Amino acid sequence: MSAIYNIVVIGIIGSLGLTGCDNPGSTNNQSQASQSASTKATVPPRNEDMQQILRGGRLYQQNCAVCHGRLAQGTSNWRQRDEEGKFPPPPLDGSAHTWHHPTAQLIEIIENGTLDRGGNMPAWKDVLSKRDIKDVLAWIKAQWPDEIYARWYRIDQRAQ
Ligand code: HEC
Repeated sequence: MSAIYNIVVIGIIGSLGLTGCDNPGSTNNQSQASQSASTKATVPPRNEDMQQILRGGRLYQQNCAVCHGRLAQGTSNWRQRDEEGKFPPPPLDGSAHTWHHPTAQLIEIIENGTLDRGGNMPAWKDVLSKRDIKDVLAWIKAQWPDEIYARWYRIDQRAQ
C-alpha cells in the first residue's frame, strides 16, 4: 500500500519536474527527452522514501524553520558576522555550503550545535532522536537541485 503510494507521488513529482515551468509553451519534446536522459546519466539515485522526507519536513518546520527559514532559504546576510562575531543561520537549501559536508558530519553538527564553538546553532541531541535527525536531513537534501545533490553525493561517498 505505502509502496504504491510512494510510486504515485514520485511519478507526479517527476512529471512536474519534466514539464519545465519556465518554458510552458515548448513543444520540443526531443530536447526535453534528451535533457532528462543526460540528467539521469549524471545524477546519482535520490532518496525516494517519501514517508521519510515528509516526516523530516514536519520536524524541520517545527524545529529549524524559525532560524533557517520555511524553505531552508536561510538569512540573506548569512556570510556576515554579527556584532558578537557570530554568523546568522545559513541557507540549507543547497545555495550555501551545507552540501560540502558528508552525512556523518551533518548529523554531528545538528546533534551538538555550535554554541560551545562560539556559534549560534543550538544542539538537538536532547530534543531529536537519531532517526529524527536523519529524516530532517532527508528533507533538507530533497530541497537540493540535482547538480548540488550529485556533488554532495561524491563527497559523501569519499567519506565512507
Ligand atoms: C536558533 C537558531 C537556529 C535553529 C533553531 C537551528 N539552527 Fe542550524 N544553524 C544556526 C546558525 C546560526 C548556524 C551557523 C553556524 C554557527 O552558528 O556556527 C547553523 C548551522 C547549521 C548547519 C550547518 C550549515 C553549514 O552550511 O555548514 C546545519 C546543517 C544546520 N544548522 C541544521 C539545522 C537543523 C536541521 C535545525 C533543526 C533541527 C537547525 N539547524 C536549527 C542557527 C539555528
